[in-house]
Amino acid sequence: MALKSTHLLGLRDVPAEDITAILDSAVAFKEILSRPVPKVPTLRHVTVVNAFFENSTRTRISFELAEKRLSADVVNFSASASSVNKGETLIDTIRNLEAMKIDLVVMRHPLPGAPNLLAKYCDSKVINAGDGSHEHPTQALLDMMTLREVYGDFNKLRVTLVGDISHSRVALSNIFGLTTMGAQVAVCGPPTLIPRDIEHLGVKVYHDLDEAIAKSDVLNVLRIQLERQDSGLFPSKREYHQTFGVTSERLAASNKPLTILHPGPINRGLELDGDVADGPHSVILQQVTNGVAVRMAILYLIAGGEK
Ligand code: NCD
Repeated sequence: MALKSTHLLGLRDVPAEDITAILDSAVAFKEILSRPVPKVPTLRHVTVVNAFFENSTRTRISFELAEKRLSADVVNFSASASSVNKGETLIDTIRNLEAMKIDLVVMRHPLPGAPNLLAKYCDSKVINAGDGSHEHPTQALLDMMTLREVYGDFNKLRVTLVGDISHSRVALSNIFGLTTMGAQVAVCGPPTLIPRDIEHLGVKVYHDLDEAIAKSDVLNVLRIQLERQDSGLFPSKREYHQTFGVTSERLAASNKPLTILHPGPINRGLELDGDVADGPHSVILQQVTNGVAVRMAILYLIAGGEK
């Protein structure tokens, strides 16, 4: 049976069985990645375009590696080197790419909803690699894969997203995915960085980091999105770090086991201290490794592979 979802635009409407299918196949693909020859012919007949209209290091490389490990034909397209700079519309650009017979588009775009538009007007399957401050479903799925490796399942797992919730697409996708899978999700940050009424999404809100730490099993620490916010949402970087920075002193004071995630790139010394990022609670590099496996699973299943 194939996935219920045709595209992967966000996790808002993805059912638990699709999430489980993706996480299960990611386990099989992770095993392939540890082999001496980490490559399979699974997508030999599939052509993928990576269309990145916004900067990216790890997500773009992770997708490209995943595609190559599956033997897909890969074309990379970045906005700065394309006709977008000559005034072409998004739909025209993609229709032209499609006329060259492609099967799948992986898209990152600064406008929320851009991948949805693409899915509506084009025949290719679409995977959202991050649209503005909306969703980043593959990041949330790799976070969930990492948590499943640590805890086995999500039942009653207390996960708190810390920091810049308002501007974070990672936050929203984590909230949708984790609540669907039965985790207890919370957010923690200053009121200026937390959307009003976020409780309606089924999450708890903390404004005190020590309280959040005491009531969580996992902290997913989010980057302060300095490029997406107007100034004035917190008094200074120094004060933000003092109030909401995840430090080894805070973790030691809580005296309990806790797992620390961060999607990267990290502002070391702002939202997260370097010794915590590199310390025993951190699974940050495990997240990056899992990113390739989870994206292989998504590409395979969205391209039409059987669960
Ligand atoms: C995230 C993104 O781009 O949304 N990073 C990533 O995909 N690895 C998070 C961020 O930029 O803070």
